[in-house]
Amino acid sequence: MNPALETLFLARQELPEKGGATLFLGAEAHPDLAAIPRLTACQPLKPLADSCGEMGVEISTVPDSGEFSTILFLPGKSKDEILAGFARAHDLLAPDGVLLVSLANTAGASRYEKELKKVTTLLSSFSKNKCRAFCVDRSKPWDAATLDAWRELARPRLIPDTDFTVEPGVFSSGHVDPGSQLLIDHLSYSVRGHVADLGAGWGFLSQAALKKLPNISRIDLFEADARALSCARKNLPAEAPAGFHWHDVTKGLPEKYDHILINPPFHTAQSRDVDLGKAFLSVAAASLKRGGSLQIVANRQLPYEAHLLELGLRPRIVIETGVYKVISA
Ligand SMILES: C[S@@+](CC[C@H](N)C(=O)[O-])C[C@H]1O[C@@H](n2cnc3c(N)ncnc32)[C@H](O)[C@@H]1O
Repeated sequence: MNPALETLFLARQELPEKGGATLFLGAEAHPDLAAIPRLTACQPLKPLADSCGEMGVEISTVPDSGEFSTILFLPGKSKDEILAGFARAHDLLAPDGVLLVSLANTAGASRYEKELKKVTTLLSSFSKNKCRAFCVDRSKPWDAATLDAWRELARPRLIPDTDFTVEPGVFSSGHVDPGSQLLIDHLSYSVRGHVADLGAGWGFLSQAALKKLPNISRIDLFEADARALSCARKNLPAEAPAGFHWHDVTKGLPEKYDHILINPPFHTAQSRDVDLGKAFLSVAAASLKRGGSLQIVANRQLPYEAHLLELGLRPRIVIETGVYKVISA
């Protein structure tokens, strides 16, 4: 289990009994989750949302308004998203509600605890499992100017020199991923027909492919992060022949495609990450129509060619830079 999740639930036992409704931002499956009364659970990442669903906990979108007596917050990694999350939680708390946050020490637990302390009084702090859970209370004064500044961080921002807008916290929220740009620059004009984009993010690859290749009749975007997918919906023109799927690619695809574009998640050589990338390639290979192709960009040290050969495909390096390689298979 995620140690920050475990620490969050240990610290929750120490909270004063509040009754009322609970909001869980960044919800993950925990044995105590289903027993929380009047729970609204929010989780943008499909695999984590599915794990909650498997234990009977329904996932909702983050409410625009409400008065929750308890908010549990298990943040992601982006600073803007975390600070904006604090402000969002403040705005959704009942007048005497409490906010409990848990983070791994390596994810900046003490730094974010200090940020919250700057804005209001800290009620408690609890350390366990190399994580820290800290708690604040809505009834204490909060600094209005800092809250306003944090609310601003939630706003979608324009990617410089483009028309794309992106929310904080999603992959490559400040710029076009150079790997994806390389893939587009070298994307073969033979890519046509019904195309899929696996791990589509905020829509760069799909939009750029539709623009470059008029023979694409339709493109299906598959993305695990609901926030990124919602940006992609806005970043592609309303009339674009595109389908948007909040989907865990490792579970397979619902149909077969003429060509599939892939910038697999993560660019590190850690085995967990490489396995996820390989799972993407396996699913893609199983979802290709006869004569179709995979168009992949990856960090050049990642061992994807051998895996593609095992899958019965013929990989060819289209271009290799100091950092990336584009593979057609
Ligand atoms: C390297 S990024 C590429 C994003 C996008 N194609 C681009 O060019 O900017 C990989 C994407 O895969 C998504 N992802 C990670 N795991 C996933 C999964 N199991 N199913 C679907 N998408 C996933 C991530 O959220 C991320 O947006």
